[in-house]
Amino acid sequence: MKAAVLYFSLTGNTRKVAEVLGKAGADLYEVEADNKLYAFLGFVKAPVFDASEYDLIVLGCPVWARMPARPLTQAIKKMDFKGRPVNAFVTHMDDEGKSTEKVLKAAGKKGAVQGKSASFKMDKELDEDVVRELLSS
Ligand SMILES: Cc1cc2nc3c(=O)[nH]c(=O)nc-3n(C[C@H](O)[C@H](O)[C@H](O)COP(=O)(O)O)c2cc1C
Repeated sequence: MKAAVLYFSLTGNTRKVAEVLGKAGADLYEVEADNKLYAFLGFVKAPVFDASEYDLIVLGCPVWARMPARPLTQAIKKMDFKGRPVNAFVTHMDDEGKSTEKVLKAAGKKGAVQGKSASFKMDKELDEDVVRELLSS
């Protein structure tokens, strides 16, 4: 199973989760912005990424104001998931709203088959076994 993780992280929490998946064998792709203001506004550089090279794609981002952070949802708009299964995770501190559901829905509009999701509350220790469960569809 070849998996790709496409993620955005402003302060490193989401990157930490993505790196657990990277260590488990997934290819990592980071959505980047030139500076913090651009990141908040959602002006991002989506990575060059071909979904057809993968069996599974995992999307990850922080929660901002109970929503998935805009940089990831903006990047999703530029993607074509080509019928691949897509799982999603978010990192947050307290209240994720319906962020994972919103990420999967956005991906569904861009050709993804919506898979499972997880949310990680980052004020406690990360359960890496739960993270790795995102690598199966
Ligand atoms: C602008 C902003 C808004 C946030 N809004 C929420 C929120 O609504 N609910 C929540 O639980 N955490 C919220 N957080 C906390 C982040 O989701 C959390 O720290 C996340 O793990 C950060 O991920 P990152 O380090 O990958 O950027 C917010 C953080 C920022 C910077």
